[in-house]
Amino acid sequence: METRQIRIDPGKIDPEALRQAAGLIRAGELVAFPTETVYGLGADAMNPEASEKIYRAKGRPSDNPLIVHIARTADLYAVAREVPAQAKALAEAFWPGPLTMIVQKNDRVPRQTTGGLDTVAVRMPDHPLALALIAESGCLIAAPSANTSGKPSPTRAEHVAADLAGKIPMILDAGPVGIGIESTIVDLTDGIPTILRPGYITREMLAGVLGTEIRMDPGLTVLECAETTNENVRPKAPGMSYRHYAPEAELTLVAGETDCVVAAINRLAAEKRAAGKKVGVIAAEETKASYRADYVAGVGARADEESIARGLYQILRELDRQEVDVIYSECFDTPRMGGAIMNRLRKAAGYRVVRAASDLRETGAAGASCGKSGHGIF
Ligand code: TXA
Ligand code: MG
Repeated sequence: METRQIRIDPGKIDPEALRQAAGLIRAGELVAFPTETVYGLGADAMNPEASEKIYRAKGRPSDNPLIVHIARTADLYAVAREVPAQAKALAEAFWPGPLTMIVQKNDRVPRQTTGGLDTVAVRMPDHPLALALIAESGCLIAAPSANTSGKPSPTRAEHVAADLAGKIPMILDAGPVGIGIESTIVDLTDGIPTILRPGYITREMLAGVLGTEIRMDPGLTVLECAETTNENVRPKAPGMSYRHYAPEAELTLVAGETDCVVAAINRLAAEKRAAGKKVGVIAAEETKASYRADYVAGVGARADEESIARGLYQILRELDRQEVDVIYSECFDTPRMGGAIMNRLRKAAGYRVVRAASDLRETGAAGASCGKSGHGIF
C-alpha cells in the first residue's frame, strides 16, 4: 500500500487534505494524525473491522484496548453507559487535553475497540488538526500511538513513517508534538479514581479538581520494583504490562547524585568501549558535556522538564539509528513530570536500574569519594 504523507499547517488546515483524511476514516481506513501528546493511528471507533486494522498495522496484541478520541464533551455520552460526576468535572477542567478517562462502555462501542473489556478509554485531544479530523469525519476516532507495537511512541510524522509506511494510506504531518509522552489515564470505574498511566496531568492536578484521594494503580509500582514482583498484581491498563519503547541496544539507567552518576556512566562506558562496544549516553543538557562515549544524546534540560518529556522518544529512536550496542542514561526525577518520564524510561530499560555509588565519583584521583557511603554499582 502506498502511504501518502501530507504536510499540514495546524494554524491553517488545508480543507481538501482534511476532507480526504476524513473520507478515509469514514471508509474504515487508517489515518495517522498528530495530537498534543504523540501521533495517533486513527480509525472509526464504532467500526469493528476498522479497529482490527489498527491492531494489524501496529502488530498490537488484540487484548490491548484503544483510546476513543472525541471532539466534543457531549460525545462522552455516545460511548459511556453512564457519565460519572467526576468525569464531567475532569472533562471541564482538562479537556481538550492530555487526560484519558476510563468509564463503563455502552453497547454501541465494539469489543474490538476495547480489547474485549466492558470499559472504554476516552479523551479529547488538544490539537487543532486532531479535533478537525474528528469533527470532519463525523466519527469518534479510536487511536493508539502510531508506532509499531513495542517501539517508542512517535513524536514526529517521520517516526510514524519509519514504522508504518506501506501499511497505512495516510499520515498527516503537522510537525513535532508539544508534550511528547502519552496522556495520563485515570480510571473512574472503581470507587477511588486511579491513575493507570502517569502523564502531563499529575495526581495533584486531578486531586485539585476532584477534592478526593487519587490512587496510583498498584500494578504500576509492582512492575517498577523487581524485588516486590507479585504475579497477582498486574497493571489495570493492559498496555502497561507490555515491553515498550525499547531501543535495540541494552539500556541501563544509572541513579544517584549527579556527579556520582557522571563518574559511574563514564566508567561503565570506558569499560564497554575497551571491549569494542559502541556506547550511547542519554543525559540532560546541563551534564551532557561531562560524558565520554560514542554518542551523547542531550534529551532536554532539567531546568525545563517539559523539554525532557518532549525529547525522550526522539532520543530513543535516534540511538537506534546511531547503532550503539549499549546505552546508559541518567534518571530524570524532575519535580512535576518526573513520575511520567521515569515510568517510560524504566519501561524502555526493561527496569534495569543501577545505583552509582558515591565512591565512583571522579575527582582526578581514581576512586576518590563523594564523601558519602556507597555500595558500588549494583
Ligand atoms: O496520549 C495518548 O493517550 C495517545 C494519543 C494518540 O492520544 N494514545 C495512546 O494510546 O497512548 P495507546 O493505545 O498507545 O495507549 C492506550 C493505553 C494502553 O495502555 C491501554 O491498555 C490503555 O490505554 N487502555 C485503553 N482502554 C482501556 C481500558 N478500558 N481500561 C484500562 N486501560 C485501557
Ligand atoms: Mg502506545
